[in-house]
Amino acid sequence: MQAHSLFFFCFFFVFYQSLRGHEGGILCVDFDHSKGTLVSSSLDDTIRVWDLRHGLCSGQLEGHANLVRCLQLDDMRLLTGSDDGTIKQWDLSCFSSAPTPATTDSFSDISSPQRSPSTSPDLNDDTVSSRTVSYVSSFDDHQREVTTIDADSTNMVSGSNDKTMKLWDLETQKCVLTMDVMWASQNSNSNSSSTWSFDNFKMNFFESSIDYVGALQFWNFALASGTVDGKLRMWDLRTGQVHRTLPGHNGAITALQFDDIHLVSGSADKTVRVWDLRTGSVSDTLSFSGPVSSLQFNAGKIISSSNTTDIDVYNRTSFQHTKLSGHTEPVNTLQYKNNTLASGGKDKIVKIWAV
Ligand SMILES: *[C@@H]1O[C@H](CO)[C@@H](O)[C@H](O)[C@H]1NC(C)=O
Ligand SMILES: *[C@@H]1O[C@H](CO)[C@@H](O)[C@H](O)[C@H]1NC(C)=O
Ligand SMILES: *[C@@H]1O[C@H](CO)[C@@H](O)[C@H](O)[C@H]1NC(C)=O
Ligand SMILES: *[C@@H]1O[C@H](CO)[C@@H](O)[C@H](O)[C@H]1NC(C)=O
Repeated sequence: MQAHSLFFFCFFFVFYQSLRGHEGGILCVDFDHSKGTLVSSSLDDTIRVWDLRHGLCSGQLEGHANLVRCLQLDDMRLLTGSDDGTIKQWDLSCFSSAPTPATTDSFSDISSPQRSPSTSPDLNDDTVSSRTVSYVSSFDDHQREVTTIDADSTNMVSGSNDKTMKLWDLETQKCVLTMDVMWASQNSNSNSSSTWSFDNFKMNFFESSIDYVGALQFWNFALASGTVDGKLRMWDLRTGQVHRTLPGHNGAITALQFDDIHLVSGSADKTVRVWDLRTGSVSDTLSFSGPVSSLQFNAGKIISSSNTTDIDVYNRTSFQHTKLSGHTEPVNTLQYKNNTLASGGKDKIVKIWAV
C-alpha cells in the first residue's frame, strides 16, 4: 500500500482524485496522507471521513448541532469548530486501523490518474460503509460560531463570531485565556484608530456571512489573527496582549499563514499580501478578480483560491501564476501538505492534486 502511494505521489503532477458524495458546498478539508485519510465538512451538514486509497467515504462524524466551518487533523486526532459554538475532538484511529480490503479494482482506480474526473471513484450513498463515530471531548465556552482553529500537540486557539479568541488546554478541555479582540486593540499601544475601524466594519459583519475572526495561527507563544476589520494582529499568548498590528488590507481577512520570516494573508479585498515579519512591510501583493477564500504557502509557492473555479499557484521565485482547473464552481477551501493539495468547492466535490 505504502509503495503504491509513494509511486503515486512521485510520478503524477496534477489532479488525480475526486471525492464525491457531499450534497452541499465544501466548507473545509484536512488530510493525513500517511494514514490515507481525509476529512471534509459541507453545507449539507455532514462531516465525512474519506479513505484516500480507495477514494471512498468511510464514515461520518456525528455530534455537532450545526455546520462545521473549520477543522484540523493531526495524526488521526481531529478538531472541528462549528456554528453551534463548540469545538469537538475526535479520535479517528478506528479508520486507519481497519482499512477496507483492497481490491484490484480500487488499485487500478487510484493508479490511473489519466482517467477523466468523471470516472474517478464516486461515492453513492449505498456504497458508504457507514461507520458513524462520535466525539471524545467538547470545548464549550464560545457564545457564537467558531470560525477558525489552530492546534499543536497540547494547546488550541480558536476564533469566534463572539469576537473573542480562546486558548485551550487540549487535555483538560479548559479555556485558559480569552482574548477580546476589540478590548485588546483599544488597549494596545498601537493606533487607536482601530476602534473606529471596527464601527466602520460592523455593518459589513452583521449583514454578510463574513467571519469576525477569519483566520489565525500560532507557534509557541506567538499568535497571528486576521479579523473582519482587515487587520492582522500579533499576540503574545503569555499575556494575551497585542504587540503588533499590520494594517493594509481593505477588507475582512479570510486566510493567513506564517513561517519564520513571512506572513501571507488573504482578504475579501481580493488581494493576497506577503508580509516580511522582520520589517512589518508588504513584500509582495497578488491581485485576484474575487475575494480570497483560502491560501497555503511554502518556500516555493503560494496557492490560493478566490471566487473562481481555478486554483492559483504562484511561483515565488519566477513570480509566475499557474492555474489548476477542474472544479466547476468556485473553490472555498484549500489544504496543502507535502506536495499534496486538497481543494473543496461550491461544486460539492473534494479534489486531490499533486502540486
Ligand atoms: C494613527 O493612525 C493615523 C492614521 O491612520 C496616523 O496619522 C497616526 O500617525 C497614527 N498614530 C500612531 C501613534 O501610530
Ligand atoms: C462570486 O462569483 C459569483 C459568480 O461568478 C458572483 O455572482 C458573485 O457576485 C461573486 N461574489 C463576489 C463577492 O465577488
Ligand atoms: C519556480 O520557477 C523557477 C524558474 O522557472 C523554477 O526553477 C522553480 O522550480 C519553480 N518553483 C516551483 C516551486 O515551482
Ligand atoms: C511530510 O513528509 C515528511 C517526510 O517525508 C514527514 O516527516 C512529515 O511527517 C510529512 N508531513 C505531513 C504533514 O504529512
